[in-house]
Amino acid sequence: MKLTQDEIHLWLAFPNEIQESELLSAYEKQMSREEVAQQKRFRFPKHRHQYLITRALVRTTLSRYTHISPHHLRFSKNKYGRPEIVAKEGMPSLRFNLSHTNDLIVCGVILKQDIGIDVEHKERNGATIDIANRFFSKTEVKDLYAIPEKERRDRFFDYWTLKESYIKARGMGLSLPLEQFTFHISENKPLQISFEPELHDDPEQWQFWLLKPTSHHKIAISVCRKANKPYQLITRKVVPLVGEEAFFCSVINQS
Ligand SMILES: CC(C)(COP(=O)(O)OP(=O)(O)OC[C@H]1O[C@@H](n2cnc3c(N)ncnc32)[C@H](O)[C@@H]1OP(=O)(O)O)[C@@H](O)C(=O)NCCC(=O)NCCS
Repeated sequence: MKLTQDEIHLWLAFPNEIQESELLSAYEKQMSREEVAQQKRFRFPKHRHQYLITRALVRTTLSRYTHISPHHLRFSKNKYGRPEIVAKEGMPSLRFNLSHTNDLIVCGVILKQDIGIDVEHKERNGATIDIANRFFSKTEVKDLYAIPEKERRDRFFDYWTLKESYIKARGMGLSLPLEQFTFHISENKPLQISFEPELHDDPEQWQFWLLKPTSHHKIAISVCRKANKPYQLITRKVVPLVGEEAFFCSVINQS
């Protein structure tokens, strides 16, 4: 699979659609010993299945670009848990990020740059506007209360997904304070971000997308584009080891 300097490839897998036992056994063989142990720690079959499909998606996807077999790919983690491929000689400088939620797993692949992906299901437990009051920036909270109440939960998820994708692109998890950056979302304007000085970041370096792949899910992508060149997004749906097809995600907004 070819990936150019100005492309992001987004691979979507729907775990509920992948149930064939021979296929699942093949995925199991691709996992490392640590991953097998980790999979066993999940109490519920649903979570074990989600974990298995995630590993299969990541390993088979990255194998397409590296020509290393899925089982032989190695990963390292930074101190906040962000996984990276352990590079081998001759391998392209691949970066990736992934996110999983109820019935959707998304893996984004890019050359060199920092990328963060977040996917959320709109019925996700524990996601209440109270989280915005406690953790979002003042401007975001003000915007949420300025829009009609029936639209509020939807907008809250837009913020949540975008904010999560940004902290994932920075690779620092929740050690990055959520109130120190603000997404500016408006119907007829491109997405924008602004930063408190403490974050030492520059809005011009970032490109964002907010997508609606299904009526239940939202995907946000944050990518740091050191040169001022816009990225092109290519989205595909895949069943690991079986096949893939182009997949249309409607764009809610982008920068
Ligand atoms: C761990 C965290 C990076 C993402 O957690 P999450 O949203 O629950 O989970 P996602 O499915 O989107 O992402 C998990 C994947 O991100 C990757 N990841 C883990 N740590 C990461 C980091 N520091 N930076 C980037 N990616 C990371 C991993 O691949 C992980 O999947 P894996 O464990 O199966 O390999 C972190 O941001 C977190 O704990 N978030 C909690 C959610 C929250 O309260 N968000 C605030 C609302 S804005």
